[in-house]
Amino acid sequence: MAVRHRGKNILILKQESRWLVFVNECPHRGLQLDESIITNGQLVCPHHNWQFKLPSGTCSTYSGYGLQPVPFRIQDGYLWVRAGD
Ligand code: FES
Repeated sequence: MAVRHRGKNILILKQESRWLVFVNECPHRGLQLDESIITNGQLVCPHHNWQFKLPSGTCSTYSGYGLQPVPFRIQDGYLWVRAGD
């Protein structure tokens, strides 16, 4: 799921029973990851197929890159993100 909060594009994923939240920008060219697929425990960017290990977001296509995590918490059935500075 992609949402916009406080000027940031946020990508919210659920991998098995675990929630993951990242800035919705691929570190390759900054394009959004909305149409990504998750396969074999990796998120695959729909634009040029860079792959990112989940849950870490570490890029497995090129070392030194990764998705930017967004702090969040689950409380009373809601997912709260801390996207602002
Ligand atoms: S923008 Fe994601 S791999 Fe190029």
